Amino acid sequence: MKDLIIVANWKLNKTMSEVKKWLDDFSIFKFQFSNKKVIIFPSFTLLDFTKRYIKNKNLNIEIGAQNISEFDQGAYTGQVNGKQIGDFANYVLIGHSEARKYLNENDLNLTEKFKRAKENNLKIIYCVSSFSQFIPAGTEIVAYEPLGAIGSGKPDSIQDIIRISSDLKKSNKSIKYVLYGGSVSTENVLDFTSLENIDGILVGGESLNPNSFFQIIKNA
Ligand code: PGA
Repeated sequence: MKDLIIVANWKLNKTMSEVKKWLDDFSIFKFQFSNKKVIIFPSFTLLDFTKRYIKNKNLNIEIGAQNISEFDQGAYTGQVNGKQIGDFANYVLIGHSEARKYLNENDLNLTEKFKRAKENNLKIIYCVSSFSQFIPAGTEIVAYEPLGAIGSGKPDSIQDIIRISSDLKKSNKSIKYVLYGGSVSTENVLDFTSLENIDGILVGGESLNPNSFFQIIKNA
């Protein structure tokens, strides 16, 4: 059995009480999959609560932040830097297509974000929507998430995923893990995780429900 990274990206969803309910429901499953690393990505304001909950209940889950400031510290109102994230999380998502679209992120500031994350010892999941997108040197985990597949119920074709996951690893020797993201569900997850060069999945919509997310982990 190969190792898998299974990500729940909650995006701009959930209040603290909703996170508590999710974790209460999810912790009932008491899953033990030694080959499956589960990482959840709540909003910044929920990182502290999530961390405390996971520690108290001794859950086998890691935490990530959905973004990071390109700046180190100082007069940058509204930003959250790598050091601040490091108090709560050990992973960070960089370059998600929604952040590229709605926050105008580009290769230049994504490179800066990548550097800030590295400086603060955060593990980076670097998202791209196509093979041709720029990936910073030294990237180890890439999430391939084609635009049309995100939130559409229409995942990418298996042929595309096979080709792109293999091309990513061939073209960039630092890439050790390629995750697939885009309309992953309980029914289709194994189609992706069974592929030779896919090392995990990034789940958006279907991770909001703890039962569906647990089924995805189980079926992966
Ligand atoms: P989705 O989102 O699973 O809802 O398609 C994936 C993502 O954007 O992370």
